[in-house]
Amino acid sequence: MSTKLRLGVLLSGSGTNLQALIGAIGTGRLDAEIVVVISNVADAYGLTRASAAGIPTVVVDHHAFPSRPDFDAQLVEHLRNHGAELVVLAGFMRLVTATLLGAFPARVLNIHPALLPAFPGLHAERQALAHGVTITGVTVHFVDEETDHGPILVQAAVPVRPDDTEDTLHARTQAQEHRIYPLAVQLIAEGRVRIDGRRVVVTDARIDPERALINPAPERAEDT
Ligand code: GAR
Repeated sequence: MSTKLRLGVLLSGSGTNLQALIGAIGTGRLDAEIVVVISNVADAYGLTRASAAGIPTVVVDHHAFPSRPDFDAQLVEHLRNHGAELVVLAGFMRLVTATLLGAFPARVLNIHPALLPAFPGLHAERQALAHGVTITGVTVHFVDEETDHGPILVQAAVPVRPDDTEDTLHARTQAQEHRIYPLAVQLIAEGRVRIDGRRVVVTDARIDPERALINPAPERAEDT
């Protein structure tokens, strides 16, 4: 039997992050297996991507359930039926409840297009532009019952350009999402991740403590 980490991916839309995970598994950078892709949106393009990769898909329409916990209970049933061990939210635009989190304790990951705790919720890039930050980014975190809130596993910083629109900034944050989501899941697959309160501890994490992203960048070579 396979010993690969078994992923259940939940999505609502285009599924470019799912595609990044599929790609990383294909090239051997991610030692995992996607056992099911579940969407609350029947025509989500992510389902087409999953089918093209030979991954089983399920649609669970949240409108069909009287409450969020009832919807989550159905998700849990499908995830368990497929033997998922880690739940990966990849553009899943529903709040999850204790029903899902209790079934997969410290085993639900999310990706968000901002440097949390800045700009949680919808339209993170729009929020970043409106606030005028010069650096934003991407966060992979464990999910708790608050929106975009749980312990942080990996972040990537992205400089904002003065001429950025929501779309141009989204394209650059997504490029970083596609790098760090497979990386974050691989750290878990390698058993290197432990949660300590709000902090996540990664065994033998590679860090580059002297390096900073400055925006606008220093003009003089000696300041870079
Ligand atoms: C991603 O940018 C992800 O960060 C965001 O939805 C997008 C899904 O893209 N999630 C959130 O905003 C969660 N609060 P994708 O369908 O192309 O992977």
